[in-house]
Amino acid sequence: MDRLLQAMRAVAEPTRIRILNLCAHSELTVSDLVGLLGQSQPRLSRHLKLLVEGHVLERHQEGSWARYRLASDRRADDNAASFASAVLDLLPQEDPVLARDMDRLDRLRRKWDAEAADYFKRNAAEWDHIRTLHVDEEAVSNALSDVTRNWSLGRLLDIGTGTGKLLELLGPRANSAVGIDLSAEMLRVARAAIEREGLTDCQVRQADMYQIPSADQDFDTAVLHMVLHYADDPAQALAEASRVLSDTGRILIVDFEQHNLAELRAEHAHRWPGFTQEQIQNWLQEAGFGDIAVTRLEGGALTVCVWTAQKIAHSQAEEAA
Ligand SMILES: C[S@@+](CC[C@H](N)C(=O)[O-])C[C@H]1O[C@@H](n2cnc3c(N)ncnc32)[C@H](O)[C@@H]1O
Repeated sequence: MDRLLQAMRAVAEPTRIRILNLCAHSELTVSDLVGLLGQSQPRLSRHLKLLVEGHVLERHQEGSWARYRLASDRRADDNAASFASAVLDLLPQEDPVLARDMDRLDRLRRKWDAEAADYFKRNAAEWDHIRTLHVDEEAVSNALSDVTRNWSLGRLLDIGTGTGKLLELLGPRANSAVGIDLSAEMLRVARAAIEREGLTDCQVRQADMYQIPSADQDFDTAVLHMVLHYADDPAQALAEASRVLSDTGRILIVDFEQHNLAELRAEHAHRWPGFTQEQIQNWLQEAGFGDIAVTRLEGGALTVCVWTAQKIAHSQAEEAA
């Protein structure tokens, strides 16, 4: 009862409703919110504090940045988070103030995309080298070969293919392989690699992982290798991957476990400081995957995780529900 009342008090104010709505669409820092709402940092920090104390927002510290997101309502007894979701459902998104906030958020997202694109552009040719600074590439490749040893890869989709490393590794075992990436520069490097390796069944296309230009169930295996930590909305990226996978399709995610290296965000345009097991598990389940497994590759400051999961066919999903 107390928790619910505190949540109600937290959201019962115009600016705080707008913050709640914005943080439901994207994970944001105070300085993002200063730009979006045009209010001072101390004022917004006060509002954020109340929203966090009311358990309707969650605060995540990432190095020197604090980031805010909607509280997760996965726990059945968490009435504050459920209340926040219910309030969001009732918000009239056509309200001019809320609509303007969303326009500004879209502009901010485009700025992030441009920054990431610029980074990728500047680093396309050097990317392979940069990656070796973070992880032991050979250990990851071996783990990928191990976990997929008994898989029939079928039609493979490499999402955020970059320089096409994964196409080189897994492409020869697939019936066909497509790599998609937003960056034309990256794709130029990938195309050169495909040509070099003679991978005639592989192709790359410029496409957005949130809008994959393929019909439902066009693929049997999807891979996201070091892509999700750049994603504004990983849950949406996984939902889109799920859409283009067959009923029993498999997904392979390689990314960092949650870490404290703030410079990866500042200098390398990372959007996420790696991920917790719970985050990945929840997003995969929401996207219709089950049979989730993880292999952790420790070593150095960053732990690389290889997550695998398989789509739950519709009938099974309905049964489970
Ligand atoms: C760190 S690179 C990883 C490349 C490759 N998977 C690898 O591990 O070598 C991340 C890639 O994701 C791509 N990317 C980022 N956002 C994307 C989006 N929305 N749609 C498609 N590709 C995206 C980038 O252009 C970049 O090539």
